[in-house]
Amino acid sequence: MVKLVFVGPDARETHVDAAAGESIMVAAIRNGVDGILGECGGSLACCTCHVYLDDDWAERAGPVSDFENEMLDMTASPREAGSRLCCQIEVGGALEGMRMRLPASQV
Ligand code: FES
Repeated sequence: MVKLVFVGPDARETHVDAAAGESIMVAAIRNGVDGILGECGGSLACCTCHVYLDDDWAERAGPVSDFENEMLDMTASPREAGSRLCCQIEVGGALEGMRMRLPASQV
């Protein structure tokens, strides 16, 4: 399992054990993380799995596809340099301990 940390807008942390190979969105939903909705089930059609990554983690999370990049312009909360749709990030050992900030709103 890979440890992930979600940090809410109120700085409250939720620690999650994610399975290698699943998406961060699926791990968040499975563990009841407040603030990740995943309404489209990970098909890159809703933007309700928006997270903010700091530079180090953004690099380790891998590249943003062209379509994800377009969708990131439609998030409910403002896009930042480290914005990602976490249904597009596959959990793997390189993400052990990864911290993500949650936006104030997903809708
Ligand atoms: Fe819909 Fe990520 S769950 S875009």
